[in-house]
Amino acid sequence: MAVQAEHNPSPEPERPVRLRRLLPPGDPATVAEIVEQLGLWQRPVSASPLPRVLLNMVSTVDGRATIGGRSGPISDRADRELFHGLRTAADAILVGAGTVRTERYGRIIRDEERRRLRAERGLSDEPLACIVSGRLALDIDIPLLADPQARVVIVTPSPASLPATAAHVEYVRAEREGHLDLAAALSELRSRFGVQLLLCEGGPHLSLALVAAGLLDELFISLSPRLAGGEAASGEALRILAGPELERPLELGLLGALEYDSQLFLRYGLSDRACAGGSATGSGSVAGGDSEERSPGASG
Ligand SMILES: NC(=O)c1ccc[n+]([C@@H]2O[C@H](COP(=O)([O-])OP(=O)(O)OC[C@H]3O[C@@H](n4cnc5c(N)ncnc54)[C@H](OP(=O)(O)O)[C@@H]3O)[C@@H](O)[C@H]2O)c1
Repeated sequence: MAVQAEHNPSPEPERPVRLRRLLPPGDPATVAEIVEQLGLWQRPVSASPLPRVLLNMVSTVDGRATIGGRSGPISDRADRELFHGLRTAADAILVGAGTVRTERYGRIIRDEERRRLRAERGLSDEPLACIVSGRLALDIDIPLLADPQARVVIVTPSPASLPATAAHVEYVRAEREGHLDLAAALSELRSRFGVQLLLCEGGPHLSLALVAAGLLDELFISLSPRLAGGEAASGEALRILAGPELERPLELGLLGALEYDSQLFLRYGLSDRACAGGSATGSGSVAGGDSEERSPGASG
């Protein structure tokens, strides 16, 4: 309560949540322990010209990716901890301009402890912030772009540039037949910026583009214990993927499941980048298997 807080100027930090490990079964674990167990700090030698790509999204049980136009209202504490835990181990974050605009993205990692952890693992202070945009209609007052400490890459098919920003901004330009060539862009993120582990944080249009291009390796989906209804066709009822229907549904293999306070955290693998080639033709096979909101702008 507020009164107690006034009498306690330096309250104990909240203890990290411990999630129940359902698959593979095990003792409850913190997000830090889970990130460690998933091997996300490791950078195995790979002949692939592309980074390993993870997508992290949250959805209500009936499939809503937003309520009131934001993901915050469907996110709970464990989801936020996982969101920031995954960020901490990534080389770069990939996010669509729509999400950056709506959620007013800020600095990727502000928490000193997380930055220290990254340094210990030989990573830069924070992941590179990669914003995907066709129109470059980005307000330079968005906290991320207004932060002189931030390192941002704009991924675009366009030859245009943003007006001068406080953030350090570079460009990955990858165009094919008037559209963004996501595979070429990701390949450049790997070769030019050394990105080996890329974490996509949505939104739904970018997520579908990644899936349709066969570029996604793993999906982390938090199932929020809520039902929200809403018209599927309206923007208000966005699901985690938005855009043209895949020619065939992509099949996923369940790699892991966690639970905390009725929220399920599922990790799925896409076995091969089977529908690679850029068209929305899903032909994949089954894989072998601190802050106030989920708001990406929130400190982590
Ligand atoms: N539930 C969740 O986990 C979650 C996660 C993230 C976001 N969200 C929510 O999703 C909503 C935003 O949805 P959204 O689908 O519009 O977001 P989005 O995918 O982040 O943004 C779409 C915009 O990103 C750019 N873009 C994406 N893919 C592109 C491509 N292949 N080529 C060129 N440009 C591309 C375009 O930017 P330009 O318009 O600049 O050309 C496009 O208009 C927000 O309400 C946010 O809160 C939910």
